[in-house]
Amino acid sequence: MASKHSVLERYSEGAQDRQPDLCCPVDYDSSLLALLPQEIIDKDYGCGDPSRYVRKGDIVLDLGAGSGKICYMAAQIVGKNGQVIGLDMNDDMLTLARKYQPEMESKLGDDRVKFVKGLIQDLTVDLEAMDKHLAEHPVTDSASLTHLQSWQVNQSKQMPLIKDNSIDLVVSNCVLNLVQDSEKNKMINEIFRVVKPGGRVAISDIISDEHVPDHLKADPTLWSGCISGALQEEEMLIAFVEAGFVAVSYDKWESEPWQVVEGIEFRSATITGIKPKEDPCLDVGHAVIYRGPYSKVYDDEGHVYPRGQRIATCQRSYELLIESVYREDFIGITPRKLKPEVNWCSPAGTLRPASETKGAIHKGDASNTTCC
Ligand SMILES: C[S@@+](CC[C@H](N)C(=O)[O-])C[C@H]1O[C@@H](n2cnc3c(N)ncnc32)[C@H](O)[C@@H]1O
Repeated sequence: MASKHSVLERYSEGAQDRQPDLCCPVDYDSSLLALLPQEIIDKDYGCGDPSRYVRKGDIVLDLGAGSGKICYMAAQIVGKNGQVIGLDMNDDMLTLARKYQPEMESKLGDDRVKFVKGLIQDLTVDLEAMDKHLAEHPVTDSASLTHLQSWQVNQSKQMPLIKDNSIDLVVSNCVLNLVQDSEKNKMINEIFRVVKPGGRVAISDIISDEHVPDHLKADPTLWSGCISGALQEEEMLIAFVEAGFVAVSYDKWESEPWQVVEGIEFRSATITGIKPKEDPCLDVGHAVIYRGPYSKVYDDEGHVYPRGQRIATCQRSYELLIESVYREDFIGITPRKLKPEVNWCSPAGTLRPASETKGAIHKGDASNTTCC
């Protein structure tokens, strides 16, 4: 597999001069680009537009922020009550993104964007603090290495760069593929750790239609060019589901591959998902009806919804189904009076008799609900 060093070198070059080979055409919202300095737009190495998923007031974390383009776009959407954190491991990229901070601060009216140095596969480590520590305590032998390792464990525990459950929306644009395969699961688990319960992810990345063979992964140009580190299209979704996200789906899918190498198609796609709330599963009388067109569907938590049947749900699942990405597929039924006796959620597929929900409030107009 190609070394991490080639990724550092390639993006240091990309911070100095525009690298046309790394640019994948993306249709961004031009009204958000209008405020951005031209150099940031030119040094765009993204493959999608996760800024489309940002909401007012969000705390957003952009993994592998590069020049800061998505951060500065997101900052316009989150408004003065939101915050945007851009994370990157590359000093040259961080210098480029930070160069425009004063200009953007005066355009936005405050300093709602900050950039931090870290690794997306371990969001606990503050690499700037580590650089400072290393300058004062260089590693010269095994004893100083042990000292560094215990400093790092302590720093990660006491002062994690990104805290647990602290982010409303994690975005990333063409970065996950650059992380070594052996660290990809750890990276997705880290994303899950930092997202608030009920929070979201929107990840634009390159995926492959077939598994990428080792000789392509070993090619440093293909790897650092966001090609051969791509996860296979099904593997990408499974990795997010296994980390604990629900409602995991491909929202954007480029029909034209960005590149084809040895017959393998590499294309840009955007995956979205939600970290479920930790509320207990209590049944207070809600039900949902799956509209169709399929005869039945399963969610990521193993519940089954046959078409047209009133299925009993706990309040937590109800909110997830009726207020998130699933909302267009379900009719929600809230009892006028919540059941006084609170029971644990019924087994998946339990029917709610119509006699129990007479006069209930039906939420059937998907366009009236809050978007994911
Ligand atoms: C293809 S560029 C994308 C930059 C930016 N997201 C954009 O849309 O223009 C990849 C960026 O991710 C950073 N990067 C790569 N691997 C990383 C890692 N393991 N941790 C943190 N940053 C990483 C690189 O330094 C580079 O800035």
